[in-house]
Amino acid sequence: GKGLFTYDPGFVSTAATESKITYIDGDAGVLLHRGYPIEQLAENSDYLETCFLLLHGELPTAEEKENFLSTIKNHTMVHEQLSHFFNGFRRDAHPMAVMCGVVGALSAFYHDSLDIHDPKHRMISAHRLIAKMPTLAAMVYKYSIGQPFMYPRNDLSYSENFLHMMFNTPCEDKKVSPVLAKAMDRIFLLHADHEQNASTSTVRLAGSTGANPFACIAAGIAALWGPAHGGANEAVLRMLAEIGDESNIDKFIAKAKDKDDPFRLMGFGHRVYKNFDPRAKVMKQTCDEVLAELGMEDDPMLKIAMKLEKIATEDEYFVKRGLYPNVDFYSGIILKAIGIPTEMFTVIFATGRTPGWIAHWNEMISSDYRIGRPRQLYTGHTRRDYPAK
Ligand code: SDX
Repeated sequence: GKGLFTYDPGFVSTAATESKITYIDGDAGVLLHRGYPIEQLAENSDYLETCFLLLHGELPTAEEKENFLSTIKNHTMVHEQLSHFFNGFRRDAHPMAVMCGVVGALSAFYHDSLDIHDPKHRMISAHRLIAKMPTLAAMVYKYSIGQPFMYPRNDLSYSENFLHMMFNTPCEDKKVSPVLAKAMDRIFLLHADHEQNASTSTVRLAGSTGANPFACIAAGIAALWGPAHGGANEAVLRMLAEIGDESNIDKFIAKAKDKDDPFRLMGFGHRVYKNFDPRAKVMKQTCDEVLAELGMEDDPMLKIAMKLEKIATEDEYFVKRGLYPNVDFYSGIILKAIGIPTEMFTVIFATGRTPGWIAHWNEMISSDYRIGRPRQLYTGHTRRDYPAK
């Protein structure tokens, strides 16, 4: 090592220990949740079934699934006093700022499930978080547009319920489109977990100190917010709007190659996938299905996105660097078609990622873990004396 402090490359922060939840092969474009390929889960499963799989390691039996769905339903309401929490924010606050705050505030309301060493408490907290994230996400949106909060309904499925709370009001109770509910469910499913990425590692590190699960998930939301991570889906839509017309694509590709310009092609590239992100393929398929069902095949954003993908994935600079569309590239086009505003996209990502975060948290807390303590490579001054007076 350099200087006085040697760097022990063998030291791994225990919060990033081995995991049985998700496997990624970046070169082969493989993503398995508890061994099941993401393509098969997207085709045959649904979001809550995948939540059960991530949490418990096996697909639920019919009875287990029924019990899980009713448990989640019974936790969808939030403490009535939480609604006052929002009033401290400006209406134009970024939804992720409010989401960070209100999820952290859950610790102040659910004292009866905070003993992290009690497996029952851990499961109650897991169920509460999966159940309440859509309710809180819809409240964040309603607050930003000055409409009253909508209560969850037990007669609707998870994704129908979310769209009901987002877009209905006390004055009208429109039926949620099954096409949009299925697309919403698919979006949540494709975001459910992704091994130990930046925000999941944040949740594990926070969890390794013994912090309560609500605080850990709030930390994960904060980490997800950045445009290099979960904030990319919002940035992709803004980039497509800025491109505005296919004729401008080459200019953006050139900018993305300019080393001095921090601009990157949002929705492209990945820390692990150097071939293609399997979720992007499923997301693109879903995008085509939803837009066709809605008669929006000629959505101008989609046209620009497809042309951008074609040009970028044939361009030597991108091919050489393994830069392909990632999970965020097409998701925003679907969310926009569902009617969700751009600034809410990362809140949707956080909602979908909650079962992954909490499954990793639970896996670590129930293992023989120690507090995470990543070490540094010290490159500063060696010891020196204070100048004599
Ligand atoms: C997510 O980790 C996860 O699993 C995350 C995630 C999850 O589910 O949790 O998958 C979700 O965060 C997906 C990524 C969303 N982010 C974006 O779409 C933002 C745009 N992408 C880039 O910021 C970037 O690709 C990252 C952050 C995703 C990855 O950054 P890296 O690891 O620095 O990329 P790299 O090392 O593979 O880069 C290789 C080269 C570099 O150039 P050189 O130094 O070799 O000359 O490619 C360049 C990079 O500068 N590069 C890009 C680029 N991404 C990388 N150039 C232009 N546009 C891009 N998007």
